[in-house]
Amino acid sequence: MTTHKRYTGLIEFYRDRLPVSANTRIISLGEGNTPLIQLQNIPRLIGKDVDIYVKFEGLNPTGSFKDRGMTMAVTKAVEAGSQAIICASTGNTSASAAAYAVRAGIKAFVLIPEGKIALGKLAQTLMYDAKIIQINGNFDRGMALVKEVAGLAPVTIVNSINPFRIEGQKTAAFEIVDELGFAPDYHCLPVGNAGNITAYWKGYDEYATDRVCGNRPVMCGYQAAGAAPFALRKMIDNPETVATAIRIGHPQSWDLAWNVQKQSGGWFDKFTDGQILAAQKMLSQYEGVFCEPASATSLAGALHDISAGKIPEGSKIVCTLTGNGIKDPEIAMLQCSAAKPVTIDASLDAVKRAILDGL
Ligand code: F0G
Repeated sequence: MTTHKRYTGLIEFYRDRLPVSANTRIISLGEGNTPLIQLQNIPRLIGKDVDIYVKFEGLNPTGSFKDRGMTMAVTKAVEAGSQAIICASTGNTSASAAAYAVRAGIKAFVLIPEGKIALGKLAQTLMYDAKIIQINGNFDRGMALVKEVAGLAPVTIVNSINPFRIEGQKTAAFEIVDELGFAPDYHCLPVGNAGNITAYWKGYDEYATDRVCGNRPVMCGYQAAGAAPFALRKMIDNPETVATAIRIGHPQSWDLAWNVQKQSGGWFDKFTDGQILAAQKMLSQYEGVFCEPASATSLAGALHDISAGKIPEGSKIVCTLTGNGIKDPEIAMLQCSAAKPVTIDASLDAVKRAILDGL
């Protein structure tokens, strides 16, 4: 007999490992359960014997990994009786917060750096009808303001300093182990505020402690060269990168992320905007996976460290692709400005010729 079980989001799925009770009203959009895609063409292209998987978090309901943390943070905010949530954001957190607030029937306030948010993220947040507050300052300034105002107004912060965000996001590590049967040797991901690297480690560590898997991965945190406080080992005041999602100079989870680095035997490194965009293009062009620029930092780093031998051949590697490429159409169009679509006459002959030319 076939039994049908609808997937209804990560809180239901990992309920026994998350801080909810039987009475908790769960605010969900069916997040999680994202594909772990094994790269087929890129390993061949680089001529290395490595298994690289990408965890495509761009397929979450609002197009980024933030939904994992937001389902948990908004569920707990509502449980505590909160009527409003607030966050500072480089775009994805704000989109996610706005969507889950709608779902819960509460208000969302989002502080974003004016002119530094990818177009798709702004469009989403507008559609979800959040109260958008643009500031003439960067994410770090917005974060400082949010922390101050939350002490004065009845709003719950849903940035990753909210511990429930980390609880939700740790489920990505569970999914990887549940699917592979083991933790990867190396887990590579882009680092901004460093909430996500903290969350993955927590997930792997819980599973290893409970003997769900026998190993823990080495955690590799990669940053954009112009926004690389971890790689430089000091906070920076004016971060700049084309990967606006990780345009952060004062990460909130500074100590937590250094602990992850130490405990996992991992490292931080930085890559230029050119290297990041090249990795983004590679994923689209060779694997059919379109992620946003910041997300491709994970692959840029992995490819560099594989070629440098820091990640040895024979390794199993997971790269998190944190957000969907469709969120940032402007960068994609700029990157591909040389590849113009052909325009032809609307006739059978012309179409036939175009196909023969293109083969
Ligand atoms: N990748 C993407 C696509 C992001 O949006 C972010 C963070 C990160 C990576 C870095 O994750 O902060 O946990 O180290 N975006 C936040 C935002 C800051 O506001 O959307 P992290």
